[in-house]
Amino acid sequence: MKKLTSLTDDEIRTLASTGGLPPDIADHMIENVVGGFTFPLGIATNFRINGRDYLVPMALEEPSVVAAASNAAKMARVKGGFTVTNTGPVMIGQIQVVNVPKPETAKSKLLARKSDILKKANDQDPMLVSLGGGAKDLNAKVLSTIKGPMVITELIVNTGDAMGANAVNTMAEAVAPMVEEITGGRVLLRIISNLADRRLVRASAVFDKSAVGGEDVVDGIVLAYAFAEADPYRCATHNKGIMNGVVAVGIACGQDIRALEAGAHSYASRSGKYKPLTTWEKNKEGDLVGELEMPMAVGLVGGAAKTHPTARADIKTLGVKTATELAEVMGAVGLAQNFAALRALASEGIQRGHMKLHARNVAISAGATEKLVDIVAKKMIEERKIRFDRAKELVAELSGSKKRAA
Ligand code: MEV
Repeated sequence: MKKLTSLTDDEIRTLASTGGLPPDIADHMIENVVGGFTFPLGIATNFRINGRDYLVPMALEEPSVVAAASNAAKMARVKGGFTVTNTGPVMIGQIQVVNVPKPETAKSKLLARKSDILKKANDQDPMLVSLGGGAKDLNAKVLSTIKGPMVITELIVNTGDAMGANAVNTMAEAVAPMVEEITGGRVLLRIISNLADRRLVRASAVFDKSAVGGEDVVDGIVLAYAFAEADPYRCATHNKGIMNGVVAVGIACGQDIRALEAGAHSYASRSGKYKPLTTWEKNKEGDLVGELEMPMAVGLVGGAAKTHPTARADIKTLGVKTATELAEVMGAVGLAQNFAALRALASEGIQRGHMKLHARNVAISAGATEKLVDIVAKKMIEERKIRFDRAKELVAELSGSKKRAA
């Protein structure tokens, strides 16, 4: 590393540290491993979901998110917390067939051979089948593409407590020869779809109008939602706020967060227009009602959820017993996060709270020691100059005066 980069010995030591992840495990997780990368891990509090209390681990770099989630959950508790349901752990595996001589006939033949194809798929994972999961159904569709018609076979798989990418991809590859023989075409892609629209969570909560700061705040949040509903530029940020919570819990619990992001945003676009993953309205009592609906493809068996010791400890802290329970918690956190962002945006804005934490981060990066962080941050906020150069000056000044005083 040293020869190839301009890194100092200290920087190399920093890179090489793997934190709570033993180096040999890191080495088996990905390729060309040189070290680890650690995010701060916070615990969001006050979450009551389906009548149960949860401590929610969140790993991320952004200040305010954990505090905002905890605060939102506290407000939701007044009316009983979050209610969440799910559609079950069902994923879709796609098999693309090209050069099909008679696409519509091929589609009918595929449907007629459904039970043979499902049997072949299920032979790949007897364990999953014994637990009640496995390939349950089959779709076939003819797509008209820029390269002509294609026949797409879809396996509908209950993946149980797994996220399911491995199980589904193995099944899709296994049935490919049979699909070729039935269709007379050539199979190309065999892969899971991240548009997990059969693996949805639906979270809802009623926020008491007094607890959230009055009916003006309720109206403000409903107007903020209307803005996102009408405008994709705002909607992207609205949904980003939801993902702040979903992804932070996802990272903490060793989930594939790229899959979660892909699922969320493709689901948000399913009507052909990009829409919010939540809705907000005022009920006749004047309270605020929030609902979230989104795909949540998460797992407890396989992947980093099993191999990463921190993820295992986080899942234990959370206390979830099934993948769908984890998905439900993540849905509630997404809704809470969205509520907190809209409430802040529709009132004092997010910068005041944000800046306090941001100032601390700037102070730390300018070299402030533990004793100086708060002093430097406070001074920069007073001066309204939260900048690295100013933090450096203050650190130099204050370290000098501390040394002299000692
Ligand atoms: C910042 O990370 C997230 C927000 O921008 C979300 C939103 O605007 O709704 C505050």
